[in-house]
Amino acid sequence: MRILLLGADGYLGWPLALELTKKNCEVFAVDNGFKRDMCASLKINPLICIKDFLTRSSVLQATCKASFQALDVDLSNWENVNTLFLEYGPFDTVYQLAEQPSAPFSMISGSTSLKTLSNNVSITNNVLFAMATHCPDAHLIHIGTMGEYGTPNIDIEEGWLDIKHKGKSDRFLFPRQAGSVYHTSKIMTTDLIWFAVRNWGLSATELMQGPVYGLLSDLDDKNDVGQNHYYYDEIFGTVLNRFVAQAVANHPLTVYGKGEQKRGFINIIDSIQCLMLAMQQPAERGQLRIFNQITETFSVMQLAQKVQRAARAFDFRVRIERTENPRVESEDHYYNPKYSDLKKLGLVPTPLTDNALSQMFNSIMRHRSSIDVSKFRMRVSWK
Ligand SMILES: NC(=O)c1ccc[n+]([C@@H]2O[C@H](COP(=O)([O-])OP(=O)(O)OC[C@H]3O[C@@H](n4cnc5c(N)ncnc54)[C@H](O)[C@@H]3O)[C@@H](O)[C@H]2O)c1
Repeated sequence: MRILLLGADGYLGWPLALELTKKNCEVFAVDNGFKRDMCASLKINPLICIKDFLTRSSVLQATCKASFQALDVDLSNWENVNTLFLEYGPFDTVYQLAEQPSAPFSMISGSTSLKTLSNNVSITNNVLFAMATHCPDAHLIHIGTMGEYGTPNIDIEEGWLDIKHKGKSDRFLFPRQAGSVYHTSKIMTTDLIWFAVRNWGLSATELMQGPVYGLLSDLDDKNDVGQNHYYYDEIFGTVLNRFVAQAVANHPLTVYGKGEQKRGFINIIDSIQCLMLAMQQPAERGQLRIFNQITETFSVMQLAQKVQRAARAFDFRVRIERTENPRVESEDHYYNPKYSDLKKLGLVPTPLTDNALSQMFNSIMRHRSSIDVSKFRMRVSWK
């Protein structure tokens, strides 16, 4: 399999690259350090600093048996993407993971909002046109987010909704109602993909993912290949990763508002499993296949309580602190998403057990002295 992996230096992209090379795929991995540049501009560091993309890629290239090539390309530029497909294509699978992935980042200012919209929408646009032009048989796998659906007062189906209206019926994308500019950019990319599937008969899988947690890496790997980025700050840290770092730093677990906001979550182990399963069992030509990529749902308060309990086993007695909610979101709502279709593809879920949390604690504790507590509250407001 010839695989184009976009966003390969990322939290999900790098472990996916490792998994693909283990399965002997021929991987063309692309990243231009967009995320590292954003972090530098906000003076945010991940828990451990990892060597730059091309350096760690060269170590992987030298040590893995599969063919692996790393390319530093800005994918928001059409000419770059066109050339990429011309020079290295055709591909069997195109993974599109290269996006600005943070809702708070998109809400800082008009400039960060524009950066999010223009980057995310233009990359998917470029990829779709390049696929239609150079390799229309390739299978596109894109990660959407559960946040695109918002919190409607009806069950959330897997991507589609059958509607009956005045005696007639049809199938539409499940209604979207985003809570941030970032999520709005994801809705736009879903719409672009659906347009390309309808118009050019491309084959696409959209994975509507919830916040990911966990490590799937050895933070102490000496040659950096097995390491992964772990963000715990308010801008790039997902909620559970943030809570574990807060607990380890003996900082209160900061819950926004009532904490009754419910979401679907997934361990990074399962996120990579789903990305592999989607590649191994592709969508048909002319099909946009959508999966809800979560394995469990919790309220934010339930997550905080789980972390508080797991922390006690390590002698951390952290309190839970309700803080003013900087976001505009419903704090008390119905939430019943469907998420059974990935299991039919073969996903074996990894539940959020005390044991899974203990493993996270063990890894993060070794880097406790690197945690910068000032980054827990950067106070990005939606209002
Ligand atoms: N991590 C999560 O919890 C989560 C949840 C839901 C959805 N997602 C989605 O999954 C995807 C991957 O997320 P992630 O957490 O790995 O994000 P990430 O920021 O760690 O990785 C994205 C990578 O894309 C690269 N990139 C961005 N713009 C680029 C450009 N113009 N040219 C080249 N490279 C570029 C970045 O440098 C980064 O390394 C994103 O689409 C995100 O929206 C993530």
